Amino acid sequence: MTSTAKKIPENVKDSLREEIARRMKRDDADIPLLPVIAAEAMTLLRNPMVDFRDVTALIEKDQRLAGQLIKIANSPFYRSLYEVRGIRRAVTVIGLRGVTELIASLAIGQKIFANKMFEEKVKGLWEHSIGCAFLAQEIGGMRSDNAQDAFLVGLLHDIGKPLVLNIIAGRMKRRPEEYPAGPEMEAVADELMDEFHVAAGRSLGEHWRFPDNIMHAIRYHHNPLKEDIPFGPALLAGVVDLYAHKFGLGVEPRDTDCSSHPWVSAFEFSAGELREIESSLCGNARMIAMNTLNATVEETPEAAAAGA
Ligand SMILES: [Fe+2]
Ligand SMILES: [Fe+2]
Repeated sequence: MTSTAKKIPENVKDSLREEIARRMKRDDADIPLLPVIAAEAMTLLRNPMVDFRDVTALIEKDQRLAGQLIKIANSPFYRSLYEVRGIRRAVTVIGLRGVTELIASLAIGQKIFANKMFEEKVKGLWEHSIGCAFLAQEIGGMRSDNAQDAFLVGLLHDIGKPLVLNIIAGRMKRRPEEYPAGPEMEAVADELMDEFHVAAGRSLGEHWRFPDNIMHAIRYHHNPLKEDIPFGPALLAGVVDLYAHKFGLGVEPRDTDCSSHPWVSAFEFSAGELREIESSLCGNARMIAMNTLNATVEETPEAAAAGA
């Protein structure tokens, strides 16, 4: 099991770090096009007049996506009395807004969270993103000024991570002698994702023309109390991230007291709200993330095609 654990020399690691830094600087991170269906779903999410027909028409454009939504509608979190067999029923069970959010998530997920070289890691990132999205929506809903784009803020705050991973996988494919797959490279990937994911996310957000709220969350979720920024979405993403780490949403759980953290204090939650977050919302977010993962994990043809 440890036969592949070849030590990666510091200079080899530094050379990879330089490639990532250089490509970030030149805006050359092989960013794919935003899937049309995701762009349309994101537009619908910002339109308060959206109706049933808009959403079903969008789903009908993509049969694979329709199948995944039906699976999610039949998953334990949403399970209704009868088996869901069609799109219309799936929309009714999940809800108009929920379905639209899932369409955006699934379409982006298929495009960005696809990497053969780091399959397990990508699954964790995907689970983290979906879990944070649901948590952000619930927590954002407790504060109306944080509700706008809350789901997407949670979903996309770490969107730079899979992008960094794709660059690393590209180099591993080109130079397998220097960068052998195994635990050492897994650790290097974690370190470099931490270091570069904000820059990578920013670059992707600019290409995909994300709204300001999402850009702020991507850029500042690791320092949301910095004075000179509108801290709403970044603070929301930061708080959600704290809870995601405490409850192990796509990451190793860590024993920490979130309620005394300054970011959580800045939200001024009541004791009841804090209890609700810890006792039910985090559990629900995990369940939805797992259900979504299960509905999509065996269907990632672009992962094979990207081979990245
Ligand atoms: Fe992050
Ligand atoms: Fe995160």
